[in-house]
Amino acid sequence: MSQNPRARQSLLCKTTGAVFLAEGIFRLEFSWPGPAPGAGQFFMIKPERSSVFLARPVSVAGWKPAESAESAESAGPESPAAAAAGTISFLVAVRGTGTVELAQMKAGDRAKLTGPLGNTWPGVPAKRSGETKPPALVGGGIGVAPLLALARELAGNAAGAEREAPCGFDFFAGFRNGFACDSLLEEAYAARGLVLAFEGGLGGYAPRRRGWAAARAGAAPKRRPGGRLSPSIHRGRILDFVDPADYSVVYACGPEPMLRALTARCRAAAVPCYVSVERRMACGTGACLGCTVETGGGNKRCCADGPVFSGEEIYACTGETASTGGGDK
Ligand SMILES: Cc1cc2nc3c(=O)[nH]c(=O)nc-3n(C[C@H](O)[C@H](O)[C@H](O)COP(=O)(O)OP(=O)(O)OC[C@H]3O[C@@H](n4cnc5c(N)ncnc54)[C@H](O)[C@@H]3O)c2cc1C
Ligand code: FES
Repeated sequence: MSQNPRARQSLLCKTTGAVFLAEGIFRLEFSWPGPAPGAGQFFMIKPERSSVFLARPVSVAGWKPAESAESAESAGPESPAAAAAGTISFLVAVRGTGTVELAQMKAGDRAKLTGPLGNTWPGVPAKRSGETKPPALVGGGIGVAPLLALARELAGNAAGAEREAPCGFDFFAGFRNGFACDSLLEEAYAARGLVLAFEGGLGGYAPRRRGWAAARAGAAPKRRPGGRLSPSIHRGRILDFVDPADYSVVYACGPEPMLRALTARCRAAAVPCYVSVERRMACGTGACLGCTVETGGGNKRCCADGPVFSGEEIYACTGETASTGGGDK
């Protein structure tokens, strides 16, 4: 894993307000004048006016640098545009008081953001001679968030992206129910193939944008010339539709049972697997030892040594069998 080469900062940042995406899930964007985050990293976020004591860790789902340094400079040193190095977006699932407060943020409200924190997803393995296998990105529920940032980097859309995937990538996303995935999964549509699985059926899911091919349940993903990708949609758990042997590397984030099962399958297929894991956090910066992850190499801190770990490193010793867990992270 790549350790954080970017110095973190703690800054009071303005939001454009929480945007509802689906039941219990919203997108939050902030102007961020600090260092550019890498895919896999997270921020500790706490609204300026908050009833909770501790900031909450949230993964970077997207990063857009400001249009141009020139336009920022011409706006004058006191203007918000001059300060803005870019916009960070987060996807947040409402859980308790902290995330409810984030969901209630309005345009212009401010929150203290500390970051970028943690490590980044490791790069795609160097292409071996004759190797044509792409990476697979596998997300369960709100666990798709850090994978969307990775998808953006692999597609070469992020500023300074160093790891464009030469043979593209496939994106797998599992949810409990079908809902407005089109607004949630924007970056995933840059994939070579996009597979969606809903444990509770399609629900209200339907791609709504013009220009998208109609997605049929069970149909193979395809891209019309000049058009958007048409996802392959299934009922069931997402791991039922992933074969690690088809990939050079697997990146995953989601519920722990899903990550354990996927690691076991990747081990059987001799494919490297990297997982982003969650622990309750207090400081988020490696100081309090409150976010321990047990690994084959001893205890590590999720916030400072992770949150991305090799699946082998943290699940190898558990002797996990391949259940196909899914659902929300
Ligand atoms: C590195 C990292 C990245 C994360 N990225 C995202 C993200 O992109 N989007 C997102 O919606 N959430 C993300 N989370 C989870 C998010 O931080 C928690 O949901 C949030 O802290 C809950 O705060 P709360 O005050 O709303 O709920 P609380 O009142 O603190 O808790 C509500 C419920 O959620 C459980 N919970 C709280 N924190 C965690 C946690 N860290 N792991 C597992 N269960 C927890 C509690 O046990 C309780 O049952 C991430 C967590 C980590 C550690
Ligand atoms: S949250 Fe304090 S060490 Fe990780």
